[in-house]
Amino acid sequence: MWFWNTEVGWAIVHPILEEYGWHYVSCNIWNKGIQHIAGNCNLPILKNFPIVTEVCAQYVRRAEFPVNGKVLSLKQWLRYEWERTGLPLYKANEACGVANAATRKYLTKDHVWYAPPPDVFKQLVAYANEHGDANGKPFFSLDGQKPTTQAQYANLFARFEGQYGITNVWEHPPLHNGERVKIPGSSKYAHLNQKPLKLIKLIIEVSSAPGDVIWEPFGGLCTAGLAAYMSDRVAHCAEINPNIFTLAVNRLQDYDDQAKLQPKLLENNVALGEL
Ligand SMILES: C[S@@+](CC[C@H](N)C(=O)[O-])C[C@H]1O[C@@H](n2cnc3c(N)ncnc32)[C@H](O)[C@@H]1O
Repeated sequence: MWFWNTEVGWAIVHPILEEYGWHYVSCNIWNKGIQHIAGNCNLPILKNFPIVTEVCAQYVRRAEFPVNGKVLSLKQWLRYEWERTGLPLYKANEACGVANAATRKYLTKDHVWYAPPPDVFKQLVAYANEHGDANGKPFFSLDGQKPTTQAQYANLFARFEGQYGITNVWEHPPLHNGERVKIPGSSKYAHLNQKPLKLIKLIIEVSSAPGDVIWEPFGGLCTAGLAAYMSDRVAHCAEINPNIFTLAVNRLQDYDDQAKLQPKLLENNVALGEL
């Protein structure tokens, strides 16, 4: 999940997200640069440095494992399942083919814990189901019927494929002409908070695959919906304001019409700023 807001809005929502199972990963800064305030900054009365940024906080959904009316974390579940096998802890090292990483890292209760990689998890599961207590099988099962596969386990982790040269500070000028949507027949901007397509495309592409569903619950002009569509994802958006909703629908429709007319031009990301 990518949570765009002011820093105060984010500060308010952060504990609620954590409480409801979202794990904080990082804070990214959109730096709009000096252009954001050029000619529009009343420095003599301002009591802070002019703000030219917005934040976009990254969260991932924590995997949850319901067991006997409780919800266990992945760390707790791995250890719980191993203990259910009745096998001594040190046998997990043998299962994973390592000297002591299994007991020291994957099954430990302390803070140095980290999740076994999918191929190691597969070995752990196979060993547990072969040598564990016959009455407790299947071990490491998500459905109670069969053990979790390597692919199912890998799916528990949020996708992220970073790109060299891209850090958590995103330099991008404020949106003015070109990409900025205006009210039809007027020179006024349609929405105060339209986000840059380039940044939205970036976060969608690093954290999802073609064909994935992208959900934009606070759509505005549905920049994420448009970026998702451009990147071959499946877009779902919501917007509560009917006027803004209509503008967003028109925006998506315009893109579709232009893409049909000039597919080559629109395939090229450089052209996106001209939409
Ligand atoms: C910050 S804007 C989103 C801007 C968008 N990312 C863009 O680039 O155009 C947030 C939008 O959420 C809408 N909104 C607020 N509450 C909503 C709700 N409960 N359901 C759907 N949309 C809502 C507002 O009308 C506003 O247009």
